[in-house]
Amino acid sequence: MVKEYKDSPVYTTSNGCPVMNPLESQRVGENGPLLLQDFHLIDLLAHFDRERIPERVVHAKGAGAYGEFEVTDDISDLTDADLFTGIGKKTKTLVRFSTVGGEKGSADSARDPRGFAIKFYTEEGNYDWVFNNTPIFFIRDPTKFPIFIHTQKRNPQTNLKDATMFWDYLSNNQEAVHQLMHLFSDRGTPYSYRHMNGYSGHTYKFTKADGSFKYVQIHLKTDQGIKTFNNEQAGEMASSNPDHHTQDLFEAIEKGEFPTWTVYVQTMSQAEAEKFKYSIFDLTKVWPHADFPLRRFGKLTLNKNPENYFAEIEQAAFSPSHLVPGVQPSADPILQSRLFSYPDTHRYRLGVNYQQLPVNCPLRSFNPFQRDGPMQMANYGSQPNYQSSFRPITYKPVASHDAHEKWVGAAINFAFRVTDADYEQPNGLWKVMGRTAGQQDNFVHNVSVHLCGARQEVREKTYGMFNKVNEELGRRIREETEENVKKDAANSAGIAARL
Ligand code: NDP
Ligand code: HEM
Repeated sequence: MVKEYKDSPVYTTSNGCPVMNPLESQRVGENGPLLLQDFHLIDLLAHFDRERIPERVVHAKGAGAYGEFEVTDDISDLTDADLFTGIGKKTKTLVRFSTVGGEKGSADSARDPRGFAIKFYTEEGNYDWVFNNTPIFFIRDPTKFPIFIHTQKRNPQTNLKDATMFWDYLSNNQEAVHQLMHLFSDRGTPYSYRHMNGYSGHTYKFTKADGSFKYVQIHLKTDQGIKTFNNEQAGEMASSNPDHHTQDLFEAIEKGEFPTWTVYVQTMSQAEAEKFKYSIFDLTKVWPHADFPLRRFGKLTLNKNPENYFAEIEQAAFSPSHLVPGVQPSADPILQSRLFSYPDTHRYRLGVNYQQLPVNCPLRSFNPFQRDGPMQMANYGSQPNYQSSFRPITYKPVASHDAHEKWVGAAINFAFRVTDADYEQPNGLWKVMGRTAGQQDNFVHNVSVHLCGARQEVREKTYGMFNKVNEELGRRIREETEENVKKDAANSAGIAARL
């Protein structure tokens, strides 16, 4: 929401009292102590002391912009979601891009997955796509998320990034290897947010009021083309301009060079899902393009920068559970956990009434059962806070869920164990890299310069993991990493000798 201040406004304290000279605090005489009655000073300092809110526990560094989503092709056979109904229909959107592991001030060009979160302000509520720039993820059991994230952040003792911790986790949880293949390819260091794709990763469901549904995966392909840094360029950019991606996005939009993405859907019927080689609820697997072709249905354009970063980007709250009629989550256990985790973190990070912040506020909402709480701005006046027979509420009929999957089973501890099948798609990606000159070499190089910082037992286990993907890959990573270990040792000895 833009607030314009046209004339020269009168400066006041927070309670609206005009202040004649804000740069003079009240004190006793010329050199004496300050007065507690100086509300302007106390008010200013006390507010300053509270300027920071917790940064996002992951995806803390980001940049965003507004835009629109336009339906380009009919998908009414898949879903009756209002925002996807009618070619040419446009919906206002907010997008936030991010890195995952770094803190709020970290470098944009770091090797990391990128977040690609989109909020659609639809007629039937806010609908969020909380996607990444990779079609798969590191885990498929949600209990691993906090543990895994700890290993990618800082060592609790040294407060340093720690290659041993990083590879120790990954080599002992090898379902992550497919995501590692993406992360250490050059796509792990995009040139900018404009030059990368976005993927749902998870399976979702597109549904219709008649009770039918299809499993879907969403892909946003950049119309700017994929463009990446190599490892060394990314490292140089991290020091010369750590905010490169933020600046690139802002300046492109200011210049009127509006980035666009073409949006596709892959679909699968329940019968196809049952025959599919992998579980469609396994987030470490893609649906091969050849078997499940991409079907175009929309275009995303970013065309407006925020006026105020904190209010519109930092306070934006995206969640996979912000859904609209015509779309449902699948039983993917990671997705199921995310449905809880995001609103939970928003309540902590922004407060229980976070949906009332202008950037998160839907076009319309009516929920008088949610009342009060800190920073309540829309408390429904005298509207009853229960289902009153005297002031009735309209409940819109929504499609029945009953015709969908039926789940039966005993309560068990969930175990998605690693099998040989987990190395097949990573090997597929290694071969995809082989189609473009230099990509396999870069991959081996990118892993080796990082892995050489880990302890020897961890390196050995990691070679074993890549060997299972592809023997040539395992051999090459071992050779180049051990070469780097020797070089690092020689460099350290040289530095020590010169001191
Ligand atoms: P295809 O042979 O049909 O297509 C391979 C896809 O890989 C390309 O379309 C492109 O996806 C992506 N790609 C190309 N180069 C790279 C790279 N250096 N790093 C990461 N991705 C790259 O593949 P399949 O569908 O049979 O899958 C083969 C492998 O491709 C998979 O194991 C998977 O890792 C990867 N892939 C598959 C995707 C899918 O949804 N099926 C999506 C992305 C990658 P895009 O067009 O999206 O840029
Ligand atoms: C941000 C949790 C997996 C994409 C976050 C945040 C949390 C979180 C707590 C911070 C949100 C905020 O403060 O507003 C989890 C958990 C996961 C998981 C528990 C698994 C169990 C994933 C996956 C994807 C993803 C698989 C992508 C497919 C994102 C994105 C953001 C984010 C894009 C940044 C949103 C923004 O820009 O505000 N995640 N995440 N996460 N996550 Fe996840």
